[in-house]
Parts: sequence; structure tokens; C-alpha cells
Amino acid sequence: MLLKNARIATMSDDRPYGMIERGAIKVAKGRIAWVGEEKTVPSEHRGGEERDLGGRLITPALIDCHTHIVYGGDRAKEFELRLKGATYEEISRAGGGIVSTVNATRDKTAKELLELSLPRVDALIAEGVSTIEVKSGYGLDIETECAMLRAGRLIESKRPIRVKTSFLGAHAVPSDYSGREDDFIDDVCIPALESAHAEGLADAVDGFCEKIAFTPEQIERVFRRARELGLPVKLHAEQLSNLGGAKLAARFGALSADHLEYAVDEDAEAMARAGTVAVLLPGAFYTLRESKHPPIGAFRRHGVGIAVATDCNPGSSPLNSILLALNMACTIFRLTPEESLAGATRNAARALGLEDSGRISQGLRADMVAWNVEHPAELAYRFGYNPIHERIFEGRFESC
Ligand code: NIG
Ligand code: FE
Repeated sequence: MLLKNARIATMSDDRPYGMIERGAIKVAKGRIAWVGEEKTVPSEHRGGEERDLGGRLITPALIDCHTHIVYGGDRAKEFELRLKGATYEEISRAGGGIVSTVNATRDKTAKELLELSLPRVDALIAEGVSTIEVKSGYGLDIETECAMLRAGRLIESKRPIRVKTSFLGAHAVPSDYSGREDDFIDDVCIPALESAHAEGLADAVDGFCEKIAFTPEQIERVFRRARELGLPVKLHAEQLSNLGGAKLAARFGALSADHLEYAVDEDAEAMARAGTVAVLLPGAFYTLRESKHPPIGAFRRHGVGIAVATDCNPGSSPLNSILLALNMACTIFRLTPEESLAGATRNAARALGLEDSGRISQGLRADMVAWNVEHPAELAYRFGYNPIHERIFEGRFESC
């Protein structure tokens, strides 16, 4: 099919948004066979089925590259506690936080976890998301970590969306291992990783490097096993303090380091050298009423790719809107609207190791969105409003 009369934000070259003002896209077998100015469509791409896009703006489909969308229960009670003055760290140390979601998740089968996640997935699909990352990390035992990843994989069989899974066994210390973090890594985390890998359930390995979670040394042991298994790594790093997680991630050639509020210039430098993407999570910043901003200037200066994601989870970021994340990344972190959109397209793909997504370019997957907006900056400018017209997933049009 030849898509005509489109304003295409390809996100794939140096022009602002990679914009083609009157463009055309040839889609064949779920891929982009050609993209360029409408008046230059080669003859071999003419004469077949055509579709007029009415001058609408077309972007790559959005990619949410950091979610914990599979979980049981909720944490509304902690929201109330925080409003009364308790901090995220205090709640976590008192046995709430991640560990309380663990209890609610261990109760559920993979099928139940899948059913609970689908309404959250649907909300993202409705905003033009084609690909999500899904983490484990609320099981913290072998069985439930694998059940979470199975549920993540099953999302693809229930909805038109692509899922990349990350094993996050080193997310928190369950109460039965309290004070015995090293034993947890040896007895549970690494065996769970091996089981998940043996079942083909993990596309990457993640961790939480923080005072309330794991030290860089403990994370490094998990990363070494990931490397032996041939799995790429990523890391929740410098969210509440600077422990050297970003530099550790860079040393392992991580796909991404995420959060990064407490990262410093030399972290950015190490990440740039390693090609590690900085994933910004403004929903967590907002929910935790953080005041320290990630070092955006250093990321820009060193040429670190910046991605933006929801971090959808029941505790620190109960945010189910990638469009709101784009707006927050601009208003709170001062990204430009173009950086913000690149953060949920081109750079989000990089953060997931996907070379075939995130741009409108020949040979890539035909995952795109047609929007009822004049200018691409509008996607980040409005909030609480969804201007989607149609989502195109693997070349198939879906009205929204
Ligand atoms: O990305 N930082 C650690 N992990 C999650 C929080 C998960 C939770 O609080 O349940 C995050 O913010
Ligand atoms: Fe997270």
C-alpha cells in the first residue's frame, strides 16, 4: 500500500523531526519499503493500492521502553501515607513499597497477572504505542519472577503490540532475606535468571542499584551472569542517591541506565562512551516529589541518547500515559518537544536494542501513528488529551 498526502516526522535524520512536508510511504509485508517526498515516488511503488492520509502528521509508533506493567494489587494506601509526610524510602524500610506489591503478585497466576495488565496495555495502545518493555521484579522468587515474564510474553498473543521483557530479580530484598542481600543474589536472583533464560523468557537483565535495594558489587554479580548467558543489561541507577550504578552499567555496555536524577557529569561521559541510553522517568520524579533533576545538560553535552518512558508501576509511578510522560519531560525536565518525541521513538528503540523500530525509514517495521495535529510539538504540548487518528501496526491500520 502507498500512503500519500502525509506530513511525515520520520525522526530519522538531522532536519527538525526528520520532517518531510508532503510525503509518501510504501508499506509492504509489514515493513517500510520506501519513504520520501510524494513527487519522487519511484514508478515501481506506484499503481497499487493507495491511501490518502489527508495531510495528517505521521510519526513512528510510540515505544514505552520502561514499564512494570505486570503486577498484582495497588499501593493507594502508600499514596495516602506519603501525603501525610512519609517518604518512599521510609515506607520501603518499614516493609511497604516494592515488597508489598511482591505479596500481591505472588498470589496470582501468570494468567491472572496477564488479565490485570491488559487494561493498562490498552491505555498505551490507545495512545499509539506499538512496543512496550515489561519487567519482572515483583516476584523475587523463582516461580513468580518467571510467571511475571510469562504474563509479559502472553500480552503479545492478546493484543497487537510488541513486548520486550527484562528480568529484574534484583529489584528489592524480600522480607525472608532481609539483611542477607548476598544470599538473595546467590540463592534466588541468579537461579531465577537462569530459569527465565532457559525458558526463553528474558530479553534483557535489569537491576535496582540503590541503598534500599542492591550495591554495585551485588548488581555486578548479576550482570556477569547475564553476560555469560549472552543477555544485554540495563539498570535503575542514581534514582535516590549516587552509588555508581550508571558507571557500572556503562562498564557492561548497558542498553540503558534509567532514572538518573543523581547522576553527574562523569556518569554522562561514561554512558556516552558506552552508547548507553539515559531513560528519563518523569512520572516517578513527579510522584515522589523529587527536586533533583537528572543532568540533562551533561547528557546533551556528551551526546548521550535520551529516552522517556512511563515507568508504569503501582508505587513510584502509577502513570499509564506515554503522552503525559512526553509533556512532563518537557515541562519538568526542560527537554525540547523534539527531544521528548525522540525519547519515545528513536531513542526508546535503542534503549531496547531494537534496530528495526522507532523511525520511519526504509526497511524498518511499519509501526506508525497518524495524528490530528498540525505540528509534532503538539504531542508534548497538550496534556490530558489524545489526538490520535489511527495506529498502524506492522502495516495494518487500526482506527482509534
Ligand atoms: O522504577 N526504582 C525502582 N523500581 C521502580 C519502583 C517500583 C515500585 O515502587 O514498585 C521504579 O521506580
Ligand atoms: Fe522502574
